[in-house]
Amino acid sequence: MKKRIIIVGGARPNFMKIAPLIREFEKYNNHFEKILVHTGQHYDFEMSEVFFQNLKIPKPDIYLNVGSDSHAIQTAKIMIAFEEVLLKEKPELVIVVGDVNSTLACSLVASKMTIKIAHVEAGLRSFDRTMPEEINRTITDSLSDYLFVTEKSGLDNLRNEGINSKKVHFVGNIMIDTLLTNLPSNDNTYILKKLKLSDNKYSVMTLHRPSNVDSEAILIEVFDILKLISEKIKIIYPIHPRAKKMIKKHNLLDEFESLDNLNMIEPIGYIDFINLVYNSKFVLTDSGGIQEETTILNVPCLTMRENTERPITIEKGTNYLVGRDKNKIMKVVDNILRDNSKKREIPDLWDGKTAERIVKVLVESI
Ligand code: UD1
Repeated sequence: MKKRIIIVGGARPNFMKIAPLIREFEKYNNHFEKILVHTGQHYDFEMSEVFFQNLKIPKPDIYLNVGSDSHAIQTAKIMIAFEEVLLKEKPELVIVVGDVNSTLACSLVASKMTIKIAHVEAGLRSFDRTMPEEINRTITDSLSDYLFVTEKSGLDNLRNEGINSKKVHFVGNIMIDTLLTNLPSNDNTYILKKLKLSDNKYSVMTLHRPSNVDSEAILIEVFDILKLISEKIKIIYPIHPRAKKMIKKHNLLDEFESLDNLNMIEPIGYIDFINLVYNSKFVLTDSGGIQEETTILNVPCLTMRENTERPITIEKGTNYLVGRDKNKIMKVVDNILRDNSKKREIPDLWDGKTAERIVKVLVESI
């Protein structure tokens, strides 16, 4: 009899992680029956559906439609809806990816129903419990039966937490599978034309974490940094709905819009985004995944956080941890503009074959 598995996606950074898994599982249709569940944590076209289109992910079999709310309410709504799914579908395994609220909520439900859990992107730690993602990943890992790890630091972290090494599999980075499948090309310059950009003459920013956008004082700090950078180079900022909401709430939209060289645009899809990044001079971000994508694309990345759960991107990649330290940021920017930035090595197993390794482990053991 076929083994039923559920794959969960919920928020934007999940979709590039489930795409290669779904494709790989297609090869084992005689072994597994897969059900794709979308929690609806992200629901706007630009935050969700465009990724399904770009990455050719099939329509979800089940859509939970939970939407946005406080952490407790959002997590609880996903749990209630997902429990019903598990009661009806009775899968052998639930696969969750990344560190968003959907990841945690679905893992909690599955574990209480003694359904096995596989966590893709296990072991990453920022050691910063003020980040909701750190809580989500630590708890998900502690509940998981299969922990699929992207980089060596993850192995150390899980060992230090006493997790049984038999459950831990170093498989590499699944997001890189997606990146290598959709590698930017010089022909694919639609987004550059649309924004009237020329190669290498602009930077890209994504900033949406609560620690960078949730207070007026911090937004003013960010504004001051952008003012300095924009005196040297154009900045394209596809703005996350949360950041836009906060900028508006604190009456700073006019201020941000007054910067000539700052172009705030709507969030964009995967293909446009990686092409935008690939052709840029550098990226400013507080995202996790973009630190990894820039490493592979060999584009300098300034991470506006105090810590990273992805240390390999600093050791081997093109990533600089700069926080909101104006002096540090401008020093790195000046260096990059003088073409004096670090060159990357490719981290172990970031080779486009991670989904293959994950599914192999599962086929052999389920
Ligand atoms: C979530 C993840 C974060 C990830 C980010 C990527 C958690 C705890 N956080 O943060 O790790 O980096 O996604 O985008 O899971 N909103 C919309 N449209 C949407 C989705 C959200 O307008 O389609 C707005 C809503 O006002 C919402 C706010 O964005 O309240 C925040 O959304 P939420 O899913 O709670 O968290 P993110 O900040 O997106």
